[in-house]
Amino acid sequence: LPPPRSAILDRVHGCAGVLSLLTDTMDAAVMEAAGPQLRVISNLAVGVNNIDLAAAEARGVAVGHTPDVLTESTADLAFALLISAARRMGEATTAVKAGQWKTWDPLGFIGADLMGATLGVVGMGRIGRALARRCHGGWKMKVLYAGGRPAPGDGLNDAVSVDLETLLTQSDFVSVHVPLTPQTRHLFDAAAFARMKASAIFINTARGPIHDQKALHHALVSGEIAGAGLDVTDPEPMDAGDPLLTLDNCIVLPHIGSGTRSSRDAMSRIAAENLIAGVLGRPLPFSPL
Ligand code: DGY
Repeated sequence: LPPPRSAILDRVHGCAGVLSLLTDTMDAAVMEAAGPQLRVISNLAVGVNNIDLAAAEARGVAVGHTPDVLTESTADLAFALLISAARRMGEATTAVKAGQWKTWDPLGFIGADLMGATLGVVGMGRIGRALARRCHGGWKMKVLYAGGRPAPGDGLNDAVSVDLETLLTQSDFVSVHVPLTPQTRHLFDAAAFARMKASAIFINTARGPIHDQKALHHALVSGEIAGAGLDVTDPEPMDAGDPLLTLDNCIVLPHIGSGTRSSRDAMSRIAAENLIAGVLGRPLPFSPL
């Protein structure tokens, strides 16, 4: 389990480098507790919302992260959630385990088609592009995006840049790939879900607080949207009694987007290289600053 805050504040004292997980808050108080010899905070994640970047910059503390090496694994998981939610795999598996598979039912677990559907990517960065490549190249989906842009070689020349409202109203699948910042916190609120199609599916593999969880629950219960696939929740870990877990149309995974052997190996190596470079006073191989 993550060390308690008091243990971090205590143990960081005198350190030149800190290797942090996304579950560790690295704010000004931690940097203060470390002392002036602190040179680097190396995060074992691409996302750095757990680190106060402004405080680090102000103190001349370098910050490391682990981009690129988890792009494909996280896009795979976003796609897995998308197809699982569309084809109702979570509730179908639960039914089999509960002994409810009595016959082949022509109307059993009817789901949504992927082929030719419209994908809305909120945040066309590394992972958003990788998901769009899968959906457009493999499933011939029309791709809309808000924020960021495809790169040459993505095969996404037909992707259309739209405003968020257009994306929400026109997409069959909405997948979010923006970093968590004060601007993106609760980007998916009641108003955003209300704009989406009643048949739409919402996917979040980025950070939980980007969606308002109460609003998402309401949207799923009231039929404002058809389903959701989440790899991230607010808070994490999700409480086992969370009302979202009672819903058939919501699949929740425990933040495993980058959880493949090669991604986690590479993330670990990069985090170590960032840490060592920082302690030695050299430029970090990968820094968000
Ligand atoms: C990250 O790297 O930010 C993911 O959330 C965990 O791999």
